[in-house]
Amino acid sequence: MADKKPVATLSYNGKSIELPILSPTVGPDVVDIRQLYADADLFTFDPGFTSTAACESSITYIDGDKGELLYRGYPIEQLADKSNHLEVCYLLMYGELPTPAQLADFHQRITRHTMVNEQMHFFFRGFRRDSHPMATMVGVVGAMSAFYHDSLDINDPWHREVASIRMIAKLPTIAAMAFKYSLGQPFVYPRNELSYAGNFLRMCFAVPTEDFVLNPVLEKAMDRIMMLHADHEQNASTSTVRLAGSSGANPFACIASGIACLWGPAHGGANQACLEMLREIGTVDRIPEYIAKAKDKNSGFRLMGFGHRVYKNFDPRAKVMKESADEVLELLGIHNNPTLQVAKELERIALQDDYFVSKKLYPNVDFYSGIILEAMGFPTSMFTPIFAISRTVGWISQWKEMIAEKNLKIGRPRQLYIGEPRRDYVDVTRR
Ligand code: CMC
Repeated sequence: MADKKPVATLSYNGKSIELPILSPTVGPDVVDIRQLYADADLFTFDPGFTSTAACESSITYIDGDKGELLYRGYPIEQLADKSNHLEVCYLLMYGELPTPAQLADFHQRITRHTMVNEQMHFFFRGFRRDSHPMATMVGVVGAMSAFYHDSLDINDPWHREVASIRMIAKLPTIAAMAFKYSLGQPFVYPRNELSYAGNFLRMCFAVPTEDFVLNPVLEKAMDRIMMLHADHEQNASTSTVRLAGSSGANPFACIASGIACLWGPAHGGANQACLEMLREIGTVDRIPEYIAKAKDKNSGFRLMGFGHRVYKNFDPRAKVMKESADEVLELLGIHNNPTLQVAKELERIALQDDYFVSKKLYPNVDFYSGIILEAMGFPTSMFTPIFAISRTVGWISQWKEMIAEKNLKIGRPRQLYIGEPRRDYVDVTRR
């Protein structure tokens, strides 16, 4: 006798409906409700998608209770320790770690695409100098579809591949250009003999009047920031990219939508918001006032850099990032910086406070990344663009995975309507 497939039974209105149970390779089972509306005239209600799997994916796995993050099965701690961002990009995009020859080939393909079309320089000049670099990036990345017509056909795997390589290669160049533009300094062209992270640091900090010396500790720290942010399964910006892509929109438009979503302070914008909050607190003696505000529901204030939708134990990325922060601060001899003192004391107090402990609110990756980036000399406005560069490979890998699905459906959630029922129009003179 064949094994019976497990089902969940839903009883409603005198009817019993059987819903199949799907089993992932790791993680909790999933109730398949795709037939629910057709069979029972019911929708499910799950704002914020706290209990809804919106797709199948084999890229990234998170166990929020254990504090585990796996890229294609490999633990983030091992990758952060032994790998580098470009190798991680290959892993996320193609599913396996590359052989030396595959890695060399990938490296060459990326570096051949690091320059942007020269015409794009003029496009940058249309923005105000004081634009937030994320605003510039949303515009410029969206505009890539106007510059690279030869990689827009989403049904052609070669077009998809070229568009993907272009975005991974050019995002650091675009972010560095946005930074240079805001400073009123000349754009710095990429150097292909440097690492991905090293090249980005040089494009941000080199000036024509001096030789640029790359510091290997800062290069490694930047590479780690990139690896740790490379993918995070179906987070808000990735889901945005998938939703935009499900309509058949071109890949550059989809990634621009991801960048726009990432900018929000509850998501990628938290690293900027966190550093600004630390500066606003200013001195250690004001921490209790901010802790009290964070606990007060009416204040609308949250401790930025604390809490996570999925991690309810600790954020494994934050652990690695904390180590990196210590290394960078030691190297740069930063011990008495007031922002850092506030950060350390805030972390200590919050980790002991009942409110934060009982709600499982721990420092997340953005708490430490902001500290490193500030020590490196980046203004807070560049924190989220660096997150966007790092996450580009995740967005692209998820987009490619989705487009390759046989029965791709446009994403189209339903709603629980709470507005007026049907009513008749009343002429303006009678209202
Ligand atoms: N400070 C104070 N209270 C908080 C915080 C915080 N940072 N985060 C959550 N809470 C409270 C919240 O008020 C709620 O309390 P109650 O149960 O009494 O109503 C409880 O904890 C659960 O919060 P939630 O809003 O239901 O949790 P969520 O899963 O919807 O939100 C979050 C997750 C990350 C948006 C939220 O923790 C937050 O706003 N954190 C600050 C912003 C931040 O650091 N974001 C970066 C996330 S990591 C990088 C990334 O992946 O983008």
